[in-house]
Amino acid sequence: MLRWGIYGAGKIAGEFAADFPKVKGAKLIAAYARKEDSVKLFCETNEIEHAYHKEDDFFGNPDIDVVYVSTPHALHAEVVKKALKAGKHVLCEKPFALNAKQTKEVFELAAKENRFVMEALWTLFLPTIQKVFSWVEEGRIGELRAVEANFGFVGNQDPEWRLMNPKLGGGALLDVGIYPVLMANALNKSIPLSINAHSHFTQTGVDGSTFITCEYPNGIMASLNASVEMDLVNTLFIYGDQGRIEVPSFWMADEATLITADGTQTFVAAMQEQHGYEYEAQAVCDAIENGESAHKIVSHEFSISLMETLDRIRQEIGLVYDADE
Ligand SMILES: NC(=O)c1ccc[n+]([C@@H]2O[C@H](COP(=O)([O-])OP(=O)(O)OC[C@H]3O[C@@H](n4cnc5c(N)ncnc54)[C@H](OP(=O)(O)O)[C@@H]3O)[C@@H](O)[C@H]2O)c1
Repeated sequence: MLRWGIYGAGKIAGEFAADFPKVKGAKLIAAYARKEDSVKLFCETNEIEHAYHKEDDFFGNPDIDVVYVSTPHALHAEVVKKALKAGKHVLCEKPFALNAKQTKEVFELAAKENRFVMEALWTLFLPTIQKVFSWVEEGRIGELRAVEANFGFVGNQDPEWRLMNPKLGGGALLDVGIYPVLMANALNKSIPLSINAHSHFTQTGVDGSTFITCEYPNGIMASLNASVEMDLVNTLFIYGDQGRIEVPSFWMADEATLITADGTQTFVAAMQEQHGYEYEAQAVCDAIENGESAHKIVSHEFSISLMETLDRIRQEIGLVYDADE
């Protein structure tokens, strides 16, 4: 039985905790947040035994085997390092850190501490996305030619909100743009050869919207767009020379359609009642039980190359954070 603790009992942590009872061989036993009242309420709501508002008490609990890090992005690298030094395995929310340099430093520490660590790219573990990858692998759309994906919504414009706040690593690219980019990298099993990107910046100095075009090896093209100030048509399209795949709301996909000259086939996953975070958590538990230090679906190499791609896009648009160092 692996016992988990949550560091950062906010919005996503609540959804993760709600899905957690479906994970086999694991139990959520603790949560930490700075505000005592809110972490107590979080633990009551999710039937979690230990509510901590002192970080040392949380990391000092020897019963916690795995820490799920769900703070705003700018804190990820620092918190994961603390967890590793306390002897915990880690699942850390996306983006794994603010940049590739921080990402590499954390993986080096994980190797030294001999602990499992993975970026929470939950989308790649969803049954619908696994089906989409198998369609592409089987050549059902012929040769891969292009990837088009959007993730955009009208968010809260309060300058203090984490996505508007540069101190917390705010902006569209790192929060939602990471999904179109990770899908294009994963489908191509590669990073882009060239990148073009343009952004609209908010008054707080983060990218409210970022539109990206890339070329991958073999002439495969990608159009990848993100916004926290516009409702985009949030569908992933994968084009081949013999058909296409459409995945609405692809980052949390429960349905995908394959369209070829032979007709149309729709895959519907049986997960309408859930968020789908249990699949990544189960994968983490299974990998730890097997003595692995990383997961093959979201390897350390994949997270580093994803972060390097995001660094290159940030260079194109001129987005720098104080916490980049
Ligand atoms: N996988 C997904 O589908 C998904 C969805 C949404 C978000 N996320 C990721 O999850 C992370 C958290 O997002 P969220 O929407 O859950 O954020 P949120 O609701 O603002 O929660 C953040 C949590 O971190 C704690 N925290 C600790 N130190 C903090 C600090 N210095 N400043 C602010 N908060 C601090 C906050 O509690 P206290 O203030 O009490 O400490 C709060 O519980 C982000 O990195 C995001 O990319 C993933």
